[in-house]
Amino acid sequence: MNIVLMGYMGSGKSLIGRDLARKLKFDYLDLDNFIEIQEKKKISEIFADKGEIYFRNKESLCLKVVLEEYKNTIISLGGGTPCFAGNLENIQQDKNSKSVYLQTSLDQLVLRLFDERKKRPLISHLNLKDELSDFVRKHLFERSFYYNQADYKVITDKKDPNQISEE
Ligand code: S3P
Repeated sequence: MNIVLMGYMGSGKSLIGRDLARKLKFDYLDLDNFIEIQEKKKISEIFADKGEIYFRNKESLCLKVVLEEYKNTIISLGGGTPCFAGNLENIQQDKNSKSVYLQTSLDQLVLRLFDERKKRPLISHLNLKDELSDFVRKHLFERSFYYNQADYKVITDKKDPNQISEE
C-alpha cells in the first residue's frame, strides 16, 4: 500500500509526508527529489536548462516508475503532478495507492511561499506579495479540479503538522 500526497506548492506535502512515514513506519519518497537524482540537477535547473515540457515528461515517467516499484511508501508529489498528462488517472488506477489532498487556504499558501519563491521556478519571478497572491489564486482554482479528485482530503489550516498527519 502507498499513500500519495497531493496539493499546491507550500501545502506541506514533504513535511507531512515525512511525519506520516515515521508514524506508520512506511518509507518516504519525494517525487521532486527522485527526479533531481535521476537528472542530477535541481528542479530549478531542469526548468532553466530544458524547460517545463521536458520536466513534465520526466515527472510523468518518474511517477509511473515510483507507483510500480515502491510499496509501503508515502509519496509526496510535486504541486503540478496530478494536473498533467494522465498522472491523476495513473494514481487513481493504481490498486495499491490511496491519495490524499492537503488543502491549504490561499492566504496561508501566499504567506508560506513568499519567502521561498526563489526555489520554485513557476513563482520565482513574482516580486510583490499581491502579484504572488493573484497568481496563486488563479492557479489554485485551475488545479483544484484535479486535487479534489483525490480519495481523501485534509484541510491543513489552523492545524499543526502532528494534527494533520494524525488526521
Ligand atoms: C511545481 C511544484 C514543485 C515542483 C516544480 C513544479 C508545480 O513542487 O514540482 O517546481 O507545478 O506546482 P512542490 O509542490 O514540492 O513545491
